[in-house]
Amino acid sequence: MPLGGVGADRDKRSTGYGKCDFVRNRIVSAANQSALETVMLHNARFPLPNKNSPYRNFHYLYPRFHALRNSRMKTIAIINQKGGVAKTTTAINLAAYYAKKGFRTLAVDLDPQSNMTEALGSKASHNIYDYFKGRPLEVEHISENLHLIPSNIRFSTIELQIINEFNREYILQHLLEPIQEDYDICIIDCPPALNFVTINALVASDFALVPLKPSSFSYDGLGIMLDFVRKVKTSLNGNLTILGIVLTFFDERKVVSKATLDKLERDNLTAGVMKTKIRAAEGIVRAEESRQSIFDYDGGSQVAQDYKSLAEEITDKIGIRPSEEE
Ligand SMILES: Nc1ncnc2c1ncn2[C@@H]1O[C@H](COP(=O)(O)OP(=O)(O)OP(=O)(O)O)[C@@H](O)[C@H]1O
Ligand SMILES: [Mg+2]
Repeated sequence: MPLGGVGADRDKRSTGYGKCDFVRNRIVSAANQSALETVMLHNARFPLPNKNSPYRNFHYLYPRFHALRNSRMKTIAIINQKGGVAKTTTAINLAAYYAKKGFRTLAVDLDPQSNMTEALGSKASHNIYDYFKGRPLEVEHISENLHLIPSNIRFSTIELQIINEFNREYILQHLLEPIQEDYDICIIDCPPALNFVTINALVASDFALVPLKPSSFSYDGLGIMLDFVRKVKTSLNGNLTILGIVLTFFDERKVVSKATLDKLERDNLTAGVMKTKIRAAEGIVRAEESRQSIFDYDGGSQVAQDYKSLAEEITDKIGIRPSEEE
């Protein structure tokens, strides 16, 4: 099956609804996606899809239509092209916290280094490489409320393989579309690169969270990255919002931490900085060595409190609650 074959298959299936000839014919002949959007947006008789609706798969052709549905998971991409800024650590601990709090949580590892996959103790035989290549998606059960789409070193070759694909920016979005209602929150750990894999993450996401380690080198790339996110928003995913910059390895006594705050202020970015700062703490490294979240390793530590308050600041900002509370 060609890359993106899953999406292509779905498109074929989605032409077989039979109940609305007008719309179906438009889909079959739709060379122009925007014409299709117009048809579907302005057809007042067109029902909102639910699980039993024969129209439920239309969102494969028409993502904005799907956005009209309730109870879609909120997806957060953790991105920074700079390595070692705590993307994976943040992804693991946010996912662990939300799962403990009763959010149906999906963690997606898009980094071929597979650090999140290893930290979560994945034993799955298939991974994101297979799914990008067209294999039907299977999520791995990790613990109560926590599922994973694991990664693998083979995923490092995907960039070259998708470069000429027609839907290269939308592969992840198409993979996640059928499971949007199965989760409350999805956390995507991105590789340290601004490449097509990261673009896939941003296209499939509602929010981008940017961990920033205080150091002049990591600050230098910040503008380029924010610009990159804005470009994806403008051209590929108007739904994307930058959730904020979260300062990691933060120590207010250190000159480099103060200097980073000053630079953020100088560049008018202070409003975009999360209130919660994550302190540098040996416990984080120990927790990762023992393949535990900081909450399981040392839930009473200050850095566990940092991640708890970051997680709560995020849910306050995006306005979601665990599904069991609804
Ligand atoms: N708050 C912290 N205090 C101390 N060490 C930390 C903290 N956060 C992360 N680390 C350690 O820093 C290292 C890099 O963290 P991590 O792997 O999360 O970064 P990353 O941005 O995902 O890196 P990469 O870009 O290579 O994927 C890890 O060894 C991790 O244990
Ligand atoms: Mg990482």
